[in-house]
Amino acid sequence: MSGPGFAAMLGQFDGPEQLRLRALALPAPRRGQVVVRVDAASVNPIDTRRRAGYGRRLMSVLGAARLPLVLGNDFAGTVCAVGHGVTAFREGDAVFGAKPPSSHGSHATHVVLDAALVLRQPPGMRAEQLAALPYNFLTVARAIAGAGITRSAIQGREVLVHGASGGLGLIALRLLDDMGACVTAVAGARRHDCRQAGAAHVLDRHAEPLRTLPRKFAATLNFGNWDDEAALLRLLAPDALGHATTVHPLLGRLDRAGLAAGLAGAWLEKRRMARQAPPGARYAWTVFRPDRAALQQLANWAPLLQRSTTPVCFPLAQAAQAHLHVEQQQPGRAILLPHMT
Ligand SMILES: NC(=O)c1ccc[n+]([C@@H]2O[C@H](COP(=O)([O-])OP(=O)(O)OC[C@H]3O[C@@H](n4cnc5c(N)ncnc54)[C@H](OP(=O)(O)O)[C@@H]3O)[C@@H](O)[C@H]2O)c1
Repeated sequence: MSGPGFAAMLGQFDGPEQLRLRALALPAPRRGQVVVRVDAASVNPIDTRRRAGYGRRLMSVLGAARLPLVLGNDFAGTVCAVGHGVTAFREGDAVFGAKPPSSHGSHATHVVLDAALVLRQPPGMRAEQLAALPYNFLTVARAIAGAGITRSAIQGREVLVHGASGGLGLIALRLLDDMGACVTAVAGARRHDCRQAGAAHVLDRHAEPLRTLPRKFAATLNFGNWDDEAALLRLLAPDALGHATTVHPLLGRLDRAGLAAGLAGAWLEKRRMARQAPPGARYAWTVFRPDRAALQQLANWAPLLQRSTTPVCFPLAQAAQAHLHVEQQQPGRAILLPHMT
């Protein structure tokens, strides 16, 4: 490794102005780890929420809330150091990946992580397009599995995606379309993007309330709003596969009530909601988790999925502006380019 490292460091949980460019002590890789020079890293809604303190209880337990904190899960970059026992990579390999929540995230010039969570870049992709995908793809893959959706089970059946025009939604539309599902997307202003991503039907969530839809869907995915959870469950057909949501209140409950009471409350709330699904249908609260097998799937999917992603790039010194971009739901994925001046 050469040259000084930097990171967008969060000094205290609050607004984007708390993010400052600070020197980063360049880490040495331990056994099984690699150090990656980060060419691009995405800023996702979870980063802006963690910045404001959301999820602190659980993140503290995971060692992922220590200040100063470097946010960010996913990246595309170049291997610049390998630890003992790493044979799959050498310095100079172009890679991408996603790391679990930590205090040493990817919004930095360098990131250190297990080599098992790193893959070679698919050919012909730009770092800023690749970096927009891992966190979102891994979450969508878990949601699809959580709802019981498989290629054979969903072929020719109807699926509804709520929050379809966002980062998760557009990936889900492409995957489900490829699986042969007939997809209804529910979105606000950016409905055109949903059509381009393969939705057969696109509903305007401001004009067509969910309650007016028939009870015909084999699966429903909620990436939009927890308040609509019960309405989405009512749209499942009697023989539905299931429903998954990424906008569940798990972390918020833990923050408010503490770990024990929060977990108990969340479990009760989940059970109450699950009862509203048809008998036999799955009901899942999806939580992001890095997963090598899903990253390998992403390597195949990335050239197609990049069409759903318009990167909007910021230098690391403008991390605060990137957070505002996400919070204001501006079009395009906010991407940090740590070596851009
Ligand atoms: N649990 C986890 O591990 C996990 C992992 C990843 C993401 N998430 C969460 O999943 C959600 C989606 O992530 P994302 O990256 O796709 O976010 P995103 O890019 O901000 O997209 C969310 C979409 O939801 C729609 N929306 C906004 N307000 C809504 C409302 N009141 N009712 C219905 N739809 C609404 C918006 O589109 P329109 O205005 O066009 O409808 C927006 O495009 C976020 O809340 C994120 O924090 C959770």
